Amino acid sequence: MTSAPDGIVVRHASREDIPAMHRVRKAVRENRLSANTKITEETYIPYLETIGRGWVLEEEGVIVAFAVGEHETGNIWALFVHEDHEGKGYGRMVQEPMVRWLFDQGLARIHLTTGAGTRAEGFYQATGWTYIGIDAHGDAAYERYQ
Ligand SMILES: CC(C)(COP(=O)(O)OP(=O)(O)OC[C@H]1O[C@@H](n2cnc3c(N)ncnc32)[C@H](O)[C@@H]1OP(=O)(O)O)[C@@H](O)C(=O)NCCC(=O)NCCS
Repeated sequence: MTSAPDGIVVRHASREDIPAMHRVRKAVRENRLSANTKITEETYIPYLETIGRGWVLEEEGVIVAFAVGEHETGNIWALFVHEDHEGKGYGRMVQEPMVRWLFDQGLARIHLTTGAGTRAEGFYQATGWTYIGIDAHGDAAYERYQ
């Protein structure tokens, strides 16, 4: 568990956190779940327990941001901040332990894709990610190196 500013806690996510994480996932302005994207609460379990790990950020005991990375592939599966809490440094705070942990697993390179032209692109560029290009699905691809 990492201590941050007063009232803020960043810690590992467990399956009990999934309902709160999914509420955050659904409360974003951009990179929203589309009707044909089948992500349910069940979907999170292997990403938290087997193929990856997750971190949540609590403000006064309420989860308002989370990040999930896959250590087998180096892919960032999710990074979301509740829309009411954007721009407060929470994205950076919840991302950091995940990135550190992925590199600690021996990965030299981690990667992600995000909606092209979204504000997330500015965030990734501000937090150490390198723009690679547009992938086959039309999304913007980024990488970060150990
Ligand atoms: C993208 C997102 C994770 C950013 O989180 P956030 O908490 O608002 O970002 P932070 O406040 O931690 O910002 C961290 C840094 O990025 C910069 N930044 C954030 N958004 C930016 C933007 N649109 N353009 C340029 N810089 C930006 C901040 O200025 C800050 O820089 P600094 O630390 O040097 O001052 C969040 O807005 C979000 O969840 N958006 C909707 C969902 C989404 O798009 N997620 C990514 C899906 S792949």
